[in-house]
Amino acid sequence: MSDECASIRASCNQELQQAANENDLYQIKSKYLGRSSRLTALIKSLKDLPAEERARSGAAANALKISLQQDIDIALENMRQARTVRAIAEQAPDITLPGRRTAIGTLHPVTRITAKIASIFTSMGFSIVDGPEIELDFFNFEALNIPKDHPARDMHDTFYVSDAQLLRTHTSPVQIRTMQKMQPPLRILCPGKVYRCDSDISHTPMFHQIEGLMVDTHVSFADLKGLLTILIHRLFGDISIRFRPSYFPFTEPSAEVDIQCVMCRGMGCRVCSGTGWLEILGCGLVNPVVFKNAGYDPDAVTGLAFGLGVERIAMLTYGINDIRLFYENDLRFLSQF
Ligand code: DAH
Repeated sequence: MSDECASIRASCNQELQQAANENDLYQIKSKYLGRSSRLTALIKSLKDLPAEERARSGAAANALKISLQQDIDIALENMRQARTVRAIAEQAPDITLPGRRTAIGTLHPVTRITAKIASIFTSMGFSIVDGPEIELDFFNFEALNIPKDHPARDMHDTFYVSDAQLLRTHTSPVQIRTMQKMQPPLRILCPGKVYRCDSDISHTPMFHQIEGLMVDTHVSFADLKGLLTILIHRLFGDISIRFRPSYFPFTEPSAEVDIQCVMCRGMGCRVCSGTGWLEILGCGLVNPVVFKNAGYDPDAVTGLAFGLGVERIAMLTYGINDIRLFYENDLRFLSQF
């Protein structure tokens, strides 16, 4: 009896030592503690023993059963812990891998050009102002010497909000608003969104303009020419410029400024329609009628004004051929600036 117990014990110990995984341990458990185990057979055979020996052998068999159970459970637990340790090691971060970068956005080309032009003018004493995008007809047209039936209104493709309200078609109304609030001398620059019912390769219904206004006692066309020449040379480098007579109801005299075509250097190409020149802004000396409408004494002050389209400058600066690219939110385009 005790020989059999010792033999079971030894054989089980040996198998426990050889077990490679939890499955092996479950098999050992059923082999040594299951219904057809040697131990079960031994316990069954106890009933044939004399009473005294039965008690002793029974106690020994029971002790063996408990001890086998404990050993197998401990082996199982060890195996499970080893598995957990292995899994943690496998999942541990590889600290030699490069970290994940946070993508940092870039400034929109329209924002970049606006900031550049703003800094050129603030360096010359101009302050930045703004005005509402939903504007009164009075500020957008009437006060700028564009009455109801004036043909210049046709060029503006206006979005009307009501009879008296509209989405501003240019930044020029800010001239009037500023003059109503501030006394001369003044130098202001107003960048902002403007709206026109127009959409094609060179027009979007919303685009950006920058308006400039300078009023003092002796502002002349020479000042206008000087300021805009500085602007253009800082934007495009040393290129040719021409001031071409034009007409705007709110300036007199008026001019449009052309630069030598940046694509063909003046040779003539598709972008400049073969002329070698590109129109980039409108300007002039403030019409005395506008001063009167804004509450200034037209005999006491003179002024210069100009307005330019930011997208157009950005397209020429970066060589972009379709204005709609600015507003499609395509990162492949936007991340190039
Ligand atoms: N407001 C004009 C436009 O949108 C541009 C312009 C021309 C502004 C002449 C001015 C100016 O201040 O003097 O076409």
